[in-house]
Amino acid sequence: MTNAYISGTGFHVPPDVVTNDDLIRRFGVDTTHEWIVQRTGIEQRRFAEAGVGTSDMALEAARSALAQAGLRPQDLDLIVFATLSPEHAFPGSGVYLQRKLGLTDGDEPKFVPALDVRNQCSGFLYGLSTAVAHVRAGMARHVLLVGAETHSAALDLSTEGRTVSSLFGDGAGAVVVSATDEDRGVRGVWLGADGRFAEVLCQKVWDIRQRPFIAKNPDRSGTVPPDMLWATMDGKVVFKHAVAAMVGSLMRACADQRIDLADIDLFFFHQANLRINQFIAQQLGVPEDRVPHNIERYGNTTAATLPILLAEAAQSGRLRPGMKIALVAFGSGFTWGAAIVDW
Ligand code: UT7
Repeated sequence: MTNAYISGTGFHVPPDVVTNDDLIRRFGVDTTHEWIVQRTGIEQRRFAEAGVGTSDMALEAARSALAQAGLRPQDLDLIVFATLSPEHAFPGSGVYLQRKLGLTDGDEPKFVPALDVRNQCSGFLYGLSTAVAHVRAGMARHVLLVGAETHSAALDLSTEGRTVSSLFGDGAGAVVVSATDEDRGVRGVWLGADGRFAEVLCQKVWDIRQRPFIAKNPDRSGTVPPDMLWATMDGKVVFKHAVAAMVGSLMRACADQRIDLADIDLFFFHQANLRINQFIAQQLGVPEDRVPHNIERYGNTTAATLPILLAEAAQSGRLRPGMKIALVAFGSGFTWGAAIVDW
């Protein structure tokens, strides 16, 4: 049987470090370093400069992942791009990345399919299930899977918006999912969703049921009211459901694989809130030294948290071949998922 394994990882974060104090000094948000650290563990995040888009950061991450896998862009059979902050409403960021990888010009153009995944903080795991399914079905030998976000462009960096805007940062992570005959790789991805909570964490921007979808001004421009323009969240509801769904999907994955938590060397949890992850680890009796985190440095980068965390762990040597790892995520939708990987 053909298995799907992760043959390369890479990440990119923009150089501008925005500390919690910078939110106050540079953006005038009424907050404190202590409030943010106490509730979330976040100390700083990165913001991309104007002119840099989601596919630009994805390109850097993708290049590193391809180099690590020893592949050229032309070796790819599919691009899967997970993001909630694509360049535009359409087309998706996948085609921009394909073009920037040089796949559409030069001596060797290759018009590989490019698929955008819109599952927010669970986007990387939804994308992983798609990549793995393509590889196992023999439809692709190498899939580039990217999670990337430019949140800074769409954050309400004001006191009114602080509950959401103090949490998020920009960045990109990428993996290459490749075919192998070896007995290793992604053992499975277990996904879930509950649309009853679709409005608990959302950024609507427009309402397609309205005619027109955005209120039209006499000069043909549009006006979006603040409650539609910016992301809104009921943090306490998200927190509670995140803990339950992440624990539930991890336990379901373990049961399906007939493994115990003790068999798992490292737990890669979505980086939305350090306290959520500490709470889960505590509930499950997992020692904290088996739960890598970087939220203190990058904040919540949504679809990018897991691939950035994987790439950092692989680069530092903490994540080594032969290890069994779990990936777990939860986010807007609600959507969630877990994956078990023999690295
Ligand atoms: O990827 C999935 C995405 N999201 C999550 O996983 C988030 C899950 N939820 C959480 O992490 C927490 O609910 C938050 C960290 C977002 C918020 O913590 P909380 O303890 O639930 O705070 P709250 O929203 O109930 O707000 C408590 C107070 C409010 O003031 P009042 O109304 O009590 O006067 C807020 O206005 O804290 C205030 N507040 C802040 N104060 C300083 C909210 N944000 C800030 C801030 N700085 N950044």
